[in-house]
Amino acid sequence: MIGATRCLTFTESVIREMTRIANQHEAINLAQGFPDFPMPAPMKDAACAAIHGDINQYAVTWGAPALRLAVAEKYHRWYGMEVDPDREITVTCGATEAMASVFLALIDPGDEVIVLEPFYENYGPDAILAGAKPVFVPLEQPDWTLDADRLRAAFSPRTKAIVVNTPHNPSGRVLTRGECDLIAELCQQYDAWAITDEIYEHIRYAGDHHVLATWPGMRDRTITISGLSKTFSCTGWRLGYAIAPPDATLPIRKVHDFLTVGAPAPLQAAGAVAMAFDADYYNHLALDYRERRETIGTALAAAGFMFTLPEGAYYILADFSKLSELADVEFAKWMTREIGVATVPGSSFYHDPALGRSLVRFAFCKSRETLLAAAERMGSVQASASLV
Ligand SMILES: Cc1ncc(COP(=O)(O)O)c(C=O)c1O
Repeated sequence: MIGATRCLTFTESVIREMTRIANQHEAINLAQGFPDFPMPAPMKDAACAAIHGDINQYAVTWGAPALRLAVAEKYHRWYGMEVDPDREITVTCGATEAMASVFLALIDPGDEVIVLEPFYENYGPDAILAGAKPVFVPLEQPDWTLDADRLRAAFSPRTKAIVVNTPHNPSGRVLTRGECDLIAELCQQYDAWAITDEIYEHIRYAGDHHVLATWPGMRDRTITISGLSKTFSCTGWRLGYAIAPPDATLPIRKVHDFLTVGAPAPLQAAGAVAMAFDADYYNHLALDYRERRETIGTALAAAGFMFTLPEGAYYILADFSKLSELADVEFAKWMTREIGVATVPGSSFYHDPALGRSLVRFAFCKSRETLLAAAERMGSVQASASLV
């Protein structure tokens, strides 16, 4: 088989594969987490203006000054966090590249990294590419709770970092203040980094968004990762960032530079416009998502899936064991082919595929029309599944 050894230990993304299968069967794609509705018009206008204004050459490697300043101002406004745009922000090609660059910059081969499971599938390959040893701690069904004792037991002097994703993909959990307290305590006790993935910070239905970097004692040991993809419905723009203390920013910027040189310059200019949107924009975003959550939740319950409604992000990880005895991958492919609705098999969120065997993930970042069409199709799941 062709490929370096490091590539042989992880597979192609199942999420992106399900999108291809959905296209093949003309299924409604509730697999991959990208909106099918338009992004904000002022951002499109700003991007066009930037292109016509000849902002088309490399931006500063670690981010256009205007975007870094806008990110710093937003963190001050929203979270009361002081961020130095010159020394603490690296603009990346999405949160995806930020996470990979942070792993490569801060984690040595053999270092242990704690990952809460189920987890966003990219973290697995990120760990492998960096040579890290992932240590998994379960979020337990049905409410996806974090067991304090199990988290404590996972930390050791070998722990280099913990990845903290809140609001969480795929479970929809929003970590509580108490859970953040515990993570902060353990990071300090074991001298570990907290690498946070806060890409869904503004998509919440319950609970507050907690920025771990603002916890006492955590500013110097937290890398805050977020981006524009989800908040501004522009997953194709590939704009994200990592906020880190200056001494950690240096290696992150080095890795980022040699991987990508930088994120697209005209889109960074438009991104700066977006970061200045007022509270109204965010309120609408959350309200619209709340409606979508109700639409899909009602449809899934009627179809016979079992799940806990998410507190944040835009996914439902649902148990289909009352509907079918198929394994998750077969069930997801069957649903795509026969029902015309694509999902992601649960096993792609676990290190041991057996743990996700009766789960599929639905993404509901879709228009009301798309969700209602999916709901109608799923009306026949129960009857059809019993025939398989
Ligand atoms: C938890 C999480 N982090 C990161 C990303 C990707 O973000 P970006 O588009 O900024 O690379 C996703 C996308 O689904 C995600 O769910």
